[in-house]
Amino acid sequence: MHVDGKNFHTIWVHPENNQVIQVIDQRKLPFEFEIVDLKTAADAFDAIQNMTVRGAPLIGVTGAYGIYLGLLNDTVGDWKEILIKDAEYLRGARPTAINLAILIDEMVSVLLGCPTLESACELALEEAERLKRREIDWSEAIGEYGCELIEAISKMKNGEPVNILTHCNAGWLACIDWGTATAPIYKAFLKGIPVHVWVDETRPRNQGARLTAWELAQEGVPHTVIPDNAGGHLMQHGMVDLCIVGSDRTTSTGDVANKIGTYLKALAAFDNIIPFYVALPSSTIDFTMRDGVREIPIEQRDGEEVSHMEGELENGQIAKMRIVNPGSAVANYGFDVTPAKYITGLITERGVCEANPADIYKLFPDSKSGCDLKSRSDY
Ligand code: MRU
Repeated sequence: MHVDGKNFHTIWVHPENNQVIQVIDQRKLPFEFEIVDLKTAADAFDAIQNMTVRGAPLIGVTGAYGIYLGLLNDTVGDWKEILIKDAEYLRGARPTAINLAILIDEMVSVLLGCPTLESACELALEEAERLKRREIDWSEAIGEYGCELIEAISKMKNGEPVNILTHCNAGWLACIDWGTATAPIYKAFLKGIPVHVWVDETRPRNQGARLTAWELAQEGVPHTVIPDNAGGHLMQHGMVDLCIVGSDRTTSTGDVANKIGTYLKALAAFDNIIPFYVALPSSTIDFTMRDGVREIPIEQRDGEEVSHMEGELENGQIAKMRIVNPGSAVANYGFDVTPAKYITGLITERGVCEANPADIYKLFPDSKSGCDLKSRSDY
């Protein structure tokens, strides 16, 4: 997608030095646009953990490049042992988005077959590039399938703008290109279908107000930022036609972990009979889990994200200030789980399916499952 009219991905190999990976620093947007160099596995780990890069598909791909950087630099000792150690280390950078573990595991299983460190380095770069390309293709396919849903609503509304509510940033910034939840919106917009996006601000880090609003503005898509607690009211008054959100981990049964606050939007949509779709690539599906609420690990982040807020002062300076009563306790759960029963459908790279195991396995019959077949057959 575009930054000031120029095409960008969120991660790429340095054009003059393929031992350096470059990313957009998402902590600075929308106020500053900065590119950061990653040179070691530790750089990749830090970028994921401190949210220089964020969003499930992007942290997965950053983890894959991190494996490559580890092979290039962590060369003391047996390289296969180092590879396994780096994989373990990188996997631990953030707990909820399963993409990180899935892509790292894919890297490791391919690389362990290499005869030498040199061949492993070469293949690691190729593999990370392939996984990046795959995420882009999957996001674009999600866009095509999701666009059909928007188009159908547009026809029912005789071409009146389709109002879509989204939460957090499941846009191209969270992925590599297109996004997951935003891909159908971009596709519809490019097709000339009138759309308008309600952008949840997404406290505490404000990924909606800062990132989704910025990327929609860069593409010229009409949108309005709303406080997180406004969605229910808009839905009651017929001002939302459709919700599309992303996912950080989806179980084989269709439960969805996504940014904190998603569950409440799903409840409001359910009560108002508004379609609630989750857009996700299969790299976000955890086929080993069946009960999202009990099994998905929920990241708890620094309380300062709740007690303080960062923004731009009138004079253009970026400042952080306390907004919570000094001395009061704060809690910062990063994600919540929306049970499958509240989800109208999953928009994946292979098409749209219902959020239930039979439908998910119909689309992904080839997926490796950690659930044993006996327990799967009782669905
Ligand atoms: O904590 P973040 O910003 O990495 O959270 C991830 C998200 O942006 C979302 O929850 C998103 O909807 C899924 S990632 C496409």
